[in-house]
Amino acid sequence: MQPFRVGVIGATGMVGQRFVTLMENHPWFQLTAVAASPRSAGRRYEDAVAGRWAMETPIPVMAKDLIVLNAEADIEKIAGMVDFVFSAVDMKKDQIKALEEAYAKAECPVVSNNSAHRWTPDVPMVIPEINADHIAVIDHQRKRLGTARGFIAVKSNCSIQSYVPALTPLLGCGIEKILVCTYQAISGAGKTFETWPEMVDNLIPYIGGEEEKSEQEPLKVWGHMENGVIVNADKPSITAQCLRVPVSNGHTAAVFVTFANKPTMDEMKAAWANYAGRAQELNLPSAPKQFLHYFEEDNRPQAKLDRNLEGGMAVSIGRLRPDTQYDYKFVSLSHNTLRGAAGGGVLLAELLCAEGYITHRE
Ligand SMILES: NC(=O)c1ccc[n+]([C@@H]2O[C@H](COP(=O)([O-])OP(=O)(O)OC[C@H]3O[C@@H](n4cnc5c(N)ncnc54)[C@H](OP(=O)(O)O)[C@@H]3O)[C@@H](O)[C@H]2O)c1
Repeated sequence: MQPFRVGVIGATGMVGQRFVTLMENHPWFQLTAVAASPRSAGRRYEDAVAGRWAMETPIPVMAKDLIVLNAEADIEKIAGMVDFVFSAVDMKKDQIKALEEAYAKAECPVVSNNSAHRWTPDVPMVIPEINADHIAVIDHQRKRLGTARGFIAVKSNCSIQSYVPALTPLLGCGIEKILVCTYQAISGAGKTFETWPEMVDNLIPYIGGEEEKSEQEPLKVWGHMENGVIVNADKPSITAQCLRVPVSNGHTAAVFVTFANKPTMDEMKAAWANYAGRAQELNLPSAPKQFLHYFEEDNRPQAKLDRNLEGGMAVSIGRLRPDTQYDYKFVSLSHNTLRGAAGGGVLLAELLCAEGYITHRE
């Protein structure tokens, strides 16, 4: 297959570096453009990230000599060089909204890691194993934008990817209410223990905006398309507390759940074992073979042991047991910068290519 040419805007940042890294040896994608702020524009990529390369692997060779373009000033130029872009810029929300829309209007599809467009009603917020069908709303979005190719698709917040995958196969039992506490890694704030030494031997009981996202975003993911927009699900009710913990990577969720039609624990484990989504059906390159893994051991899942399961794209579940207030409680874990951020973005882009929404530009 002829590779899709890919640009990364915000390529010098933490999430952008992860996108660049994931393009190395990708079977479908070829990195052809990197862009960032005027501070980095005009420099070789290797020079622009010098002293702040945060990945475990070295800077990919194919990226080193690319000249960083200006993400705002060079839109037309970038749109002409690529088949689509990943967006990982850190700017004010209104600026990100305008920037991503400008790329879409320049007929360049945008697969975004940012939250700016998550609540735009005709922008799909997709976890490919769960709500791949939402991408059909792109036809309506294109009509609004007046585009033939260009559109915006987003991934959800990283926190919900630790528990929404585990709950989705159980929706048929009529989930009534969910209580969730998330224990979130420092990389979710773009930090390491070197850059955030205060987090060593510490816990911070506040992550700005995270509890609202954790309570509301699942309802869009579990929503449906109607009259050209995504309509949120009206239940279950969700309450969340989100804590920052001294873990480098991996968000863990402690989940309590009550059903209208309470399943047995064996039925829940079977639902997890048998669950597969569109990403598995299409055999997308970044899709885990087994999306949900249940561990019988009492001390699993553990962030350090289990976050990298299936390349960091699978979700681990454990400790399912009855609860005294809710029907059941369990624990689940996902890698926040792989499944929860850039890896989830790459999987979404693969879905959009496989389903014909991203095409090769003439
Ligand atoms: N870190 C995570 O795990 C995570 C998880 C989920 C979502 N997010 C979201 O993802 C986005 C990126 O996060 P990050 O942690 O990667 O941020 P970051 O490390 O601060 O990187 C920000 C990127 O945006 C670019 N940028 C900043 N101002 C710009 C401007 N005016 N025009 C063009 N580019 C500009 C920067 O370019 P320069 O290098 O030239 O300044 C850099 O490439 C943010 O919206 C963040 O909220 C992050």
